[in-house]
Amino acid sequence: MLDLLRLLQDGRFHSGAVLARTLGLSRTAIWKRLKKLESELGLAVHSVPGRGYQLASPLSLLDEHLGSFDCLSYSCPIHILMSVDSTNAEALRRLGRGAAAPFMLLAEQQSAGRGRRGRGWVSPFAENLYCSLALPVTGGVSQVAGLSLTIGLAVLRSVQAFGAPSAGLKWPNDVLVGDGRKISGILLDISGNLEDRCNVVIGIGVNLNMLLDSDITQPWTSLRQETGKLVDRNEFVRHLSGQLAHYLGRHWQHGFSALREEWETAHLWQGKKVRLISGDQEIAGSVSGVANDGAIRLEIAGKEHAFNGGELSLRLRNDS
Ligand code: BTN
Repeated sequence: MLDLLRLLQDGRFHSGAVLARTLGLSRTAIWKRLKKLESELGLAVHSVPGRGYQLASPLSLLDEHLGSFDCLSYSCPIHILMSVDSTNAEALRRLGRGAAAPFMLLAEQQSAGRGRRGRGWVSPFAENLYCSLALPVTGGVSQVAGLSLTIGLAVLRSVQAFGAPSAGLKWPNDVLVGDGRKISGILLDISGNLEDRCNVVIGIGVNLNMLLDSDITQPWTSLRQETGKLVDRNEFVRHLSGQLAHYLGRHWQHGFSALREEWETAHLWQGKKVRLISGDQEIAGSVSGVANDGAIRLEIAGKEHAFNGGELSLRLRNDS
């Protein structure tokens, strides 16, 4: 099916006869595969007599020859999956079976993409970036402190470079555009024991080409919505890999403290009045910044307090 999709991904018309000849199939076989594309991948295909078949919207498929990229002192192989429940879950399974980190998994589609705080992550076929980077952690817990914020900076720089210069960060690791539309989220999983040798799986979702979705319950956007142009997902992966290598290099060498100021400059909610939510508990304060371990620093009744934890989330107060 992928070979047919590669021919159709430009969004132009292709005659059934040429598709059949190119792939060495009958026209009926082509027609059946097109029906499968529609039913299994949710892609709409236009069929016009005399012109042929056209995808309702062009696609940017991942290139199976993306190969590898240099990250820290390693060469990190990139593996492409057609469909998976969650790239993070798959990376954890592979580590559990003894696969050696580093490696990066990219998927065309996730059937059960995971977000923070038990949420899902909408992952339609070939539209966005669904990426998990598995890295070995040799320096103990302190290496992981603030790591997800460092990754936020890397993602932010790629999102800005691909046409959303106004994008910024929201603690702990959302990338937002304009008045608060989410374009990217990050989810860290640890495999093994932090006190000993372990691996970290850095899950990154970036909305690249998605134009419509009714299942997302918060304001969101994609690079294509911002720029009106289809993003080449392979170019985005190459750019992001470079940013990850750069920021991870700094983080691994000096810790998040070396990136703290840069992070605070990019924080859209710096100085804002917020509510910090943990389950059904709420604390009101204003954002003073972040700490060297990535905790959020809030000023509450004239005193500064730091908070950290995977279940925490920030909301703007109505009077902010
Ligand atoms: C968030 O809630 O903001 C975090 C979203 C993280 C989504 C990415 S997509 C790739 C990786 N695989 C997953 O299942 N989740 C992360």
